[in-house]
Amino acid sequence: MNVVNQAAAVFFSPSHTSRKITQAFLRGTGLPAEEYDLTLPAARGNLISLPADALVVLCAPVYGGHTVRLFMNELTRVHGQGNPAVIISVYGNRHYDRALQDLYAGAVSCGLKPFAWGTFLGEHSFTSEILTGRPDADDLALAEQFGRQAAAGFSSAVTLKAEDIPGRDVDYAMIGMHGQRLGHLTPNRPFPSENCTHCGICAAVCPLGLINPHDSNDIREECMKCGACVKLCPEHAMRFPQEAFRIVQDDCISEFGSDVNHPQFFINSLPE
Ligand SMILES: Cc1cc2nc3c(=O)[nH]c(=O)nc-3n(C[C@H](O)[C@H](O)[C@H](O)COP(=O)(O)O)c2cc1C
Ligand code: SF4
Ligand code: SF4
Repeated sequence: MNVVNQAAAVFFSPSHTSRKITQAFLRGTGLPAEEYDLTLPAARGNLISLPADALVVLCAPVYGGHTVRLFMNELTRVHGQGNPAVIISVYGNRHYDRALQDLYAGAVSCGLKPFAWGTFLGEHSFTSEILTGRPDADDLALAEQFGRQAAAGFSSAVTLKAEDIPGRDVDYAMIGMHGQRLGHLTPNRPFPSENCTHCGICAAVCPLGLINPHDSNDIREECMKCGACVKLCPEHAMRFPQEAFRIVQDDCISEFGSDVNHPQFFINSLPE
């Protein structure tokens, strides 16, 4: 049986919703915790050896029905030692489709033993009109409860099998058109408005390092629309003025903009 003296979280979170869920989970465990935030370019590309006595949590947002690819690529550099692990997908109210299953496969291939999963909700990266302000206090209380129960119950928990992880086919009929439009956004980058004060925050938070820190008008055209520069701009100056982007926002709001989903979590324990 594993001895657990600490927690370790490996996560990716451009607009900070996955980060908030991860940190609430860690608080819930009550364990001293190490955070490996792989959001920014400088934090990626390193080997991460997880301590043998850590309860590990992997958390990342859902992009196009999968776990964001950048995070999956980084997991190939994470080395576990048979640690008990928790996987968490954070999504913007449409669905998580295959994302949790991606995380499960990633966790197993880095030598972890997932025994619990969670799906939590975050304000949508494309617009603040979907799940505005989520995760809210209730979401964070649930994430803490999840952490508390996971830390209390891991010793009697059982490693999950692949078929235990919920998921469904990616709903391409629904999101295919969005992918098409955003994939061909011209130019493929956001733009600062005249309210920009040239503070440089957008450059500092871009996970792809696309924005020139000395000139916020100078943005490389490889944007993944993670929303970090838009949401974290203190002047609300950064935005996507392209018509195609507005159409996708409107579609998302009308298709899945209302509050219908709920956070869920599951810990795989031995039957009493
Ligand atoms: C390119 C892209 C694709 C997305 N695809 C989905 C999706 O398939 N389903 C969904 O519910 N949310 C989707 N989202 C929304 C994010 O999963 C959600 O807003 C999440 O809370 C963002 O996490 P972060 O704040 O940690 O960056 C997508 C966001 C982006 C940027
Ligand atoms: S964060 Fe906003 S105000 Fe600051 S440089 Fe970027 S666009 Fe301008
Ligand atoms: S430029 Fe694109 S990739 Fe960079 S922070 Fe802004 S939305 Fe994200």
